[in-house]
Amino acid sequence: MLRSWSRPAVSLRTVAVLAAAVLAIAARTGSALASPEEDRAAMLTFFSERFVGVPLQEYVHGSMMMSDDAKMQYESIMDFPPFQGGIDRGQLIWEKPFANGQSFASCFENGGRNVAGRYPYYDAQTDRVVTFEMALNQCLRSNGETEFDYSDRSTMGVLTAYARTLSDNMLMDIRVEGAGARKKYESGRALYYRRIGQHNLACASCHVTHAGHYFRDELLSPTIGQAVHFPVFRGGEFLYTLHMRYQRCMEALRAAPYPAGSEDLNNLEYFHSYLNNGLPLKASIYRR
Ligand code: HEC
Repeated sequence: MLRSWSRPAVSLRTVAVLAAAVLAIAARTGSALASPEEDRAAMLTFFSERFVGVPLQEYVHGSMMMSDDAKMQYESIMDFPPFQGGIDRGQLIWEKPFANGQSFASCFENGGRNVAGRYPYYDAQTDRVVTFEMALNQCLRSNGETEFDYSDRSTMGVLTAYARTLSDNMLMDIRVEGAGARKKYESGRALYYRRIGQHNLACASCHVTHAGHYFRDELLSPTIGQAVHFPVFRGGEFLYTLHMRYQRCMEALRAAPYPAGSEDLNNLEYFHSYLNNGLPLKASIYRR
């Protein structure tokens, strides 16, 4: 059953036309250089008018917040997740001591518990955004081990699927402080509003302007709530890190996707995660 706040279906053409409107607004606020906190507040207001009466906590369920049936199916799958084996394989990697006797837990505060909500962060020393996955690789490197490929599901994928569960329920807490950090945030923001691919659509066209509407047979989730639960197991089986999910949407737009772990996607994740500040993390969940 669809909830009352669901909207009717829209076509790609409608999405493109209406996207132009939101992008014009974005360009205006962008030129005035709204602060990250102003961006987030504007987004929250926009969605609170779109999804009237829906508590913010519900946004973590993405498009399922609009469908009781989908939510029930989700809950029954999460009782016995068919992808538990993947998370367990990640745990083995996390716990296996390195050749020097150290382990992943030794690289993180608190043994890696309740840390993921502070990633990505801006590292002024190297002038770049550091994702949680990069921190896992830095840990390998600093201990003389071989780094994992950001697009390899069987190593980095399952490792992050486990390691991120150690931060379940932590609230997203991204900081954008100082000019260097702000530049990366703005670059992520620009990509989010940039029209790309043969369909000439931006991320914001679907996940802001049309959040809550149908695109083909799928309900579009709002950008707020999306960044706190990755990786996901689509169809209960196929692991997608956040970057892989970004790539999937770029492919759907017929745009050449940026590589997982690239600076462009790191900055995009920085912006996107900031908008998700204050929401509780829950990694490794089912998605359609
Ligand atoms: C033509 C519409 C469209 C555009 C444009 C689009 N997406 Fe998506 N996206 C979808 C659909 C459909 C889904 C699956 C349903 C859902 O969860 O919204 C999805 C899902 C997602 C999800 C997973 C949500 C979740 O909770 O599991 C993320 C993250 C995402 N998109 C990010 C992006 C980013 C970043 C861009 C820009 C590069 C983008 N999308 C552009 C249609 C789009």
